[in-house]
Amino acid sequence: MSYILAIESSCDDTSAAVMHDDCMLSNVIASQKVHEQYGGVVPELASRAHQQNILPVVDTALRQAGIDKSQLDAVAFTRGPGLLGSLLVGVSFAKGFAQALGIPLIEVNHLQAHVLSHFIRTDSSSTTPSFPFLCLLVSGGHTQIILLRSHFEMEILGQTIDDAAGEAIDKAAKIMDLGYPGGPVIDRLAREGNPDAFTFATPNIKGYDYSFSGIKTSFLYYLRDRLAEQPDFIEVHKADLCASIQKCIMEFLLKKFEKAALANRISQVAIAGGVSANSYLRNGLQRIADKHHWKAFIPPFTFCTDNAAMVGIAGYYKYLRHEYADISLPPFTN
Ligand code: KG4
Ligand code: ZN
Repeated sequence: MSYILAIESSCDDTSAAVMHDDCMLSNVIASQKVHEQYGGVVPELASRAHQQNILPVVDTALRQAGIDKSQLDAVAFTRGPGLLGSLLVGVSFAKGFAQALGIPLIEVNHLQAHVLSHFIRTDSSSTTPSFPFLCLLVSGGHTQIILLRSHFEMEILGQTIDDAAGEAIDKAAKIMDLGYPGGPVIDRLAREGNPDAFTFATPNIKGYDYSFSGIKTSFLYYLRDRLAEQPDFIEVHKADLCASIQKCIMEFLLKKFEKAALANRISQVAIAGGVSANSYLRNGLQRIADKHHWKAFIPPFTFCTDNAAMVGIAGYYKYLRHEYADISLPPFTN
């Protein structure tokens, strides 16, 4: 039996969680609103906000879990990839905390953590995937089709060769002046729109790889031409544009993912990462799972975007293997 404190600070969310084995006791997330006015994450501001948030977030996570820090068995932290200044805050805090308590440190890869979020138990009825299963990891920084044979045996079958899916959505939102992050706004506006109103071409990329920079460019050029004829084109067609670009990106993601699952004779499929909060993608995954009689794992919203519980579950599986990190370990950005 173990109690693990987990810390996540790779981008613009400061988060701390307490795990009791694979059960989540608390998962506190402080999101940073400061970046909205800049249309993207400002690294310098992110690290300063982490510095302010980390102590209250950890304190709240321990209180909500109802345990004292003396009961902790290990501290897990996100080592990377992420923004260096942001990571340094979490990594340094974790090291100091573990050292002061005389307990082991566990380093966690942020991407593995997103995928392993499917194993977090929130109550006794939680069902988790069995191996092998295929996971589509889609976030602001990554787009990968990952085949999992065990908790730590992950094979990347395909990935983006340029922009990440979340980045493409955020850029489409920026073109329409919808603010940052654009994903949730596009998702919301798309509900009122017609997904077949406009079509945007998707590229032909070999194997299970993706590319999103062409979709973004064709969206940009299409709007530039329409705006020249009708200055309020975006305003008038906003919902249809959101629904159409969302469908284009999500169908592209789903089509390759389905192909990869069929080729690898997979019957359990999952999505993870910030973009897995998208309603079209969630419904789409369920749709293809139903079609092939697969079991779909769609994460609760709190486990889609960055959170420490996913770091905690990855940390727990490493704890079972006594995979501890050295105090001198630096963060990594890529
Ligand atoms: O995993 P995440 O929180 O951070 C990274 O590790 O990148 O993902 C953030 C990304 C952003 O691009 C954001 O726009 C996108 O996830 N996102 C969404 C939705 N919610 C967040 N994209 C589409 N639909 C959503 N509902
Ligand atoms: Zn992430």
